[in-house]
Amino acid sequence: VDESTPPQTLNVRSIEGIASYIKEGRAKKIVLMTGAGLSTAAGIPDFRSPDTGIYANLARLDLPYPEAVFDISYFRSNPLPFYTLAHELYPGQYKPTLSHYFLRLLSDKGLLLKLFTQNIDCLERAAGVPGDKIIEAHGSFARQRCIDCRTEYPDDLMKQAIQDREVPHCMRTECRGLVKPDIVFFGEALPEEFHHNCGLPGHADLAIIMGTSLSVRPFANLPGYCAQGVPRLLINSERVGGLGSRADDVLLLGDCDDGVRKLASALGWLPELEAIFKAH
Ligand code: APR
Repeated sequence: VDESTPPQTLNVRSIEGIASYIKEGRAKKIVLMTGAGLSTAAGIPDFRSPDTGIYANLARLDLPYPEAVFDISYFRSNPLPFYTLAHELYPGQYKPTLSHYFLRLLSDKGLLLKLFTQNIDCLERAAGVPGDKIIEAHGSFARQRCIDCRTEYPDDLMKQAIQDREVPHCMRTECRGLVKPDIVFFGEALPEEFHHNCGLPGHADLAIIMGTSLSVRPFANLPGYCAQGVPRLLINSERVGGLGSRADDVLLLGDCDDGVRKLASALGWLPELEAIFKAH
């Protein structure tokens, strides 16, 4: 497949191909790489979609530029825009989507080697994907700490602060530094466990990339670590990250949940998937 092949011509042939590849038991170490497009169906906006994305709707926060809301040096100078946004994004108000339950199904069937997610909404965990299968490359809201002395901050006080759109400060009176959830801001290092595991795509026998623009490194490097000859399936509204450049790439362009339904149906898993989704 060269760049000139129109992506849509690959869909039909390739989804069936991917499904039989999995049904024949040739995909037992599947690596997933996911982003915000996986959770838009849950009601959580993604970052870069032109009209609905978070970065297109921050005018009210009067930021110097959209990504400043997640920039650690800007946060130090003005933490309020982040806490205003956090109030809207805080987990607990949203439910996993059909696509999240597909990830859980892959894990239940013993086919999931590792799920790398950029999302901070913890919906993969909520859908039942075991914690040891998930790498939250950009952290999550699960815990929070002082950005100066690193002392952890209590969950209940954090929930209260976010609900009240207040900026929490370190519990240690001699510190009183700003508290921030363990979300990786621009300018911060990714978690150690990302760096420990980022070689795993090189051991995968199938990669599925879903709902991401692949515009932020080092996460965006992951699909490139897959060995030549290993199929890489992209389920995304748009073609991203050079996917489609390899002969074994498969592009399923469109909505994540629709793409997942097509794949699950070709696998004969659709009744099972719908049942889990409806049961929650
Ligand atoms: N179905 C399929 N694709 C979708 C859907 C959907 N329902 N909704 C959005 N998309 C696609 C968009 O077209 C886009 O290609 O998902 C992608 C989302 O891209 P981004 O908004 O850039 O989100 P993401 O890739 O997760 O951002 C990466 O950037 O701001 C930082 O740290 C933040 O983790 C985030 C990182």
